[in-house]
Amino acid sequence: MPLIELIGLKTYFYTKAGVVRAVDGVDFAIEKGRTLGIVGESGCGKSITALSIMGLIQTPPGRIVSGEIRYHRNQGDQNREEVINLERLNPRGRKMRSIRGNEIAMIFQEPMTSLNPIYTIGNQIMESIKLHQRLSRREAREKAIQMLASVGIPSPEQRVQEYPHQLSGGMRQRVMIAAALSCNPSLLIADEPTTALDVTIQAQVLKLMNDLRREFKTAIQFITHDLGVIARMADDVAVMYLGKVVEKSTVKNLFRNPRHPYTQGLMHSIPSLSSKKDERLMPIKGVVPDLLEIPAGCGFETRCPQAMDICKQQPPPQKEVVQGHWTSCWRYD
Ligand SMILES: Nc1ncnc2c1ncn2[C@@H]1O[C@H](COP(=O)(O)OP(=O)(O)O)[C@@H](O)[C@H]1O
Ligand code: SF4
Ligand SMILES: [Mg+2]
Repeated sequence: MPLIELIGLKTYFYTKAGVVRAVDGVDFAIEKGRTLGIVGESGCGKSITALSIMGLIQTPPGRIVSGEIRYHRNQGDQNREEVINLERLNPRGRKMRSIRGNEIAMIFQEPMTSLNPIYTIGNQIMESIKLHQRLSRREAREKAIQMLASVGIPSPEQRVQEYPHQLSGGMRQRVMIAAALSCNPSLLIADEPTTALDVTIQAQVLKLMNDLRREFKTAIQFITHDLGVIARMADDVAVMYLGKVVEKSTVKNLFRNPRHPYTQGLMHSIPSLSSKKDERLMPIKGVVPDLLEIPAGCGFETRCPQAMDICKQQPPPQKEVVQGHWTSCWRYD
């Protein structure tokens, strides 16, 4: 039962220097109530994929040039659903605004980008509750306090009157999660929500998100550059490189048998995933190429230790290696 499906999505930026193909034919689905992890190095198109779903691409210079974003919206209590093509909606129109921040909510790496410094914590959560749920001020305030408590904010009755700058980074992150969840979204997009936090606080926030996803049964798109976080948080995973999904499967299968050389490279470069303590970490050589100079064949060819002649010439097709496990690499075709 997919909640959201991306089919051949392309989002490009038309800049003076040329066309930046930030998202270049992305396919994936997020099932209802499941967590899809999106992983890849910086600059691979993870955030732009998320912002495309939210209708938040800055136009110009950016534009969704082709493909589909199908949102399967539940119709009331019956098991009927309506399929909405989000890419066709006016990003500033009424329908998109009723979906964004309500049915599909997003949290960011830096909470201050979505928390407003001049409003109290309580007011920001209440605004989002009142906007979408038609509650009275008192009811909304009660709900805000309840949400703060459920994300583990101590003395929420008092905190509700405070301003964002009065809280620590970890607490602000919790407030942002509370605000996003207060409207009970069917999809929560979390874009590197713990990357800016120190290790201890990061572990606490990840645990909190894990508890909440069980409690609220929200589907989550969890974006990170850290495969260790994917192992803890996700059911399914899509590995992105240069605007493309190069491998996707369940988390279990991916860790048991990573097929794509890029995924294998990511695994070898992460300390928390090494089985043996004294095993040498091997970072992937080189850097992500400039998106204006994408290789003609396989995008990973310039860094791949297993590259063959054909890899330079033609992009590899997507291949299902075992059921539900896809990879784009000539080694599997
Ligand atoms: N406004 C923009 N103009 C031109 N290029 C952009 C713009 N926004 C993002 N990009 C490019 O899109 C690519 C993908 O970015 P992003 O999705 O943020 O990567 P990730 O989240 O994986 O680190 C990057 O190379 C970035 O430079
Ligand atoms: S297609 Fe070739 S270059 Fe690309 S990942 Fe596979 S082996 Fe490496
Ligand atoms: Mg990003």
